[in-house]
Amino acid sequence: MKYLVTGAAGFIGSHLVRQLLSEGKEVVAVDCFRDYYPPELKRANIADLLKNPSFKLFEEDLSVKNMSWLDRAFDPHEEILIYHLAAQAGVRKSWGEEFSQYTVDNIMSTQNLLEWSVRRGNVRNFIYASSSSVYGRATDLPMVEDMTLPVPDSPYGVTKLAAENLVRLYTRNYGLPSVSLRFFTVYGPGQRPDMAFSIFLEAIRKGSPLRIFGDGSQTRDFTYVGDVVQGLRLSEKCTDGKVMNLGGGNTLSLLKAIGILEEAAGMKAKLSFLPVQPGDVRDTFASTELLEKTTGWKPSTPLIEGLRRQFLETENRQS
Ligand SMILES: NC(=O)c1ccc[n+]([C@@H]2O[C@H](COP(=O)([O-])OP(=O)(O)OC[C@H]3O[C@@H](n4cnc5c(N)ncnc54)[C@H](O)[C@@H]3O)[C@@H](O)[C@H]2O)c1
Repeated sequence: MKYLVTGAAGFIGSHLVRQLLSEGKEVVAVDCFRDYYPPELKRANIADLLKNPSFKLFEEDLSVKNMSWLDRAFDPHEEILIYHLAAQAGVRKSWGEEFSQYTVDNIMSTQNLLEWSVRRGNVRNFIYASSSSVYGRATDLPMVEDMTLPVPDSPYGVTKLAAENLVRLYTRNYGLPSVSLRFFTVYGPGQRPDMAFSIFLEAIRKGSPLRIFGDGSQTRDFTYVGDVVQGLRLSEKCTDGKVMNLGGGNTLSLLKAIGILEEAAGMKAKLSFLPVQPGDVRDTFASTELLEKTTGWKPSTPLIEGLRRQFLETENRQS
């Protein structure tokens, strides 16, 4: 059996590939190196893996209909396990003109890959990286998978929910094995540069103020990237189309998180407060009971430890 990881050069994808290779698995990786953030950072994420004979990278765009390159990546009767992480991520840029990129990368690409999976057959599981953004302004906390229909609060969330529903449809109508995991604010070494902790660490290092949208009392369920990878691995055998939350159990306010960040970095931050941005939800808090019961997964990285690792990696990259 081979593994197909899409979005493999991205933040979470590159951690997942590293884990799979360390387990001795063969990985076919796909990434089109979108320039939403500098592609050099993505190339750096996987530079050392290119020498590994069990790793094969395709620089291809999943939204392009012709996928013959993907047919050629596998032997005809070989089983494939798909981790579909490729997406245009980020809430704030999903408004306005950028939206078409979100529909292309998040919806069209997912539908393309689902069609390919059904055509190809022998897909042991299609594991989809969904998002807490599908929940929007949920007021009943913690967020439970089968609570009232999720109503996203950003165009990004709409595209992630649409793709999640597409996965569900292909499972129901074509019997494609699948599972969707809703990630909650993932952080750790290599975190996307547009995400809060990356921006905050950069600002602390430069001595510039941390720009906080709102009063800082908004809460997030922060999830360490290693725990996400662990959750993805443990979900491999879950093939009945379940949708499960993957949240780190570190739910706290942004201001408290900044306090922990200061401790991890050993530096004090200056704060500047700005208006709340459209699409930014007030609170996220995952119920992870379903994932824990189904797979035995439990998050194991406390925020202080995860942030220390992220801080050290940022320092190493910059020195
Ligand atoms: N980081 C988080 O906190 C978080 C939270 C919830 C959900 N997610 C989801 O997890 C997944 C990974 O997120 P990330 O933070 O690692 O993002 P990322 O931007 O670092 O990685 C995504 C990768 O997908 C690639 N890609 C995009 N469109 C593509 C296409 N059409 N064809 C091929 N490659 C394409 C990009 O070049 C990028 O390298 C995404 O699906 C995202 O929606 C992330």
